[in-house]
Amino acid sequence: MAPDSVHSSGSGALAVSACDEDLLFSRIAEDLITKSWSVIPNALPSALCALLAGQLKVSDGADFSAAGIGRGSMHTLKPAVRRDEIRWIEGATTAERAWLDWSRRLQSTLNRRLYLGLFSFESHFAHYRPGAFYRKHVDAFKAAPVQDDTSTSGSNRVLSLVAYFNSHWQPDDGGELVLYDAQGDTEIIRVIPELGTLVIFLSEEVPHEVLPTQRDRYSIAGWYRVNQS
Ligand code: OGA
Ligand code: MN
Repeated sequence: MAPDSVHSSGSGALAVSACDEDLLFSRIAEDLITKSWSVIPNALPSALCALLAGQLKVSDGADFSAAGIGRGSMHTLKPAVRRDEIRWIEGATTAERAWLDWSRRLQSTLNRRLYLGLFSFESHFAHYRPGAFYRKHVDAFKAAPVQDDTSTSGSNRVLSLVAYFNSHWQPDDGGELVLYDAQGDTEIIRVIPELGTLVIFLSEEVPHEVLPTQRDRYSIAGWYRVNQS
């Protein structure tokens, strides 16, 4: 490892080298090849984690709006399905730009290793208040064999990514993310939404749900998309 690879100052900031990032991105690529999903605790570089958690702490979710389902003119609020509040990440702050840079580097690595043709990335902060949940769903539907022109047929999301920003999550706090097998009936893994944990999965292949949370729960959800045309 290069001498400057890790700078640790007690429990303080930990800079991450290109070497650590390569290892993380390789592990994600391997997981996606072998099982369509990847769950990695302490995956997000701690400096990036601290920046994003800091921004969330300041805003406290005050500038978020109720999330709905469907794109464009099909968008509707569905409180029986999902109860989170969101704010799209546009790169307005240092933290958001660092996040977008990091996700762009992951995008290039996955394109090089897996030939996924990931073309763009969209992501939002999400706040689940106590009692909030997101019922079982997939993030994208398999393309119809015949391409229709109604523009309701898909978001062209290929890969979903979720990162968490909650310290000291307790077993009683609920709010786990549950991943299911492709049929949607067998639970594969239950993920605690703990600070720094990263979850990545193929958007069409992995049904998932957020169990009701007992505590304020902050995350980022993002999607890599392919070019429609
Ligand atoms: C989503 C989603 C999971 C989570 O926003 O589509 O599934 O754990 N989020 O926040
Ligand atoms: Mn989802």
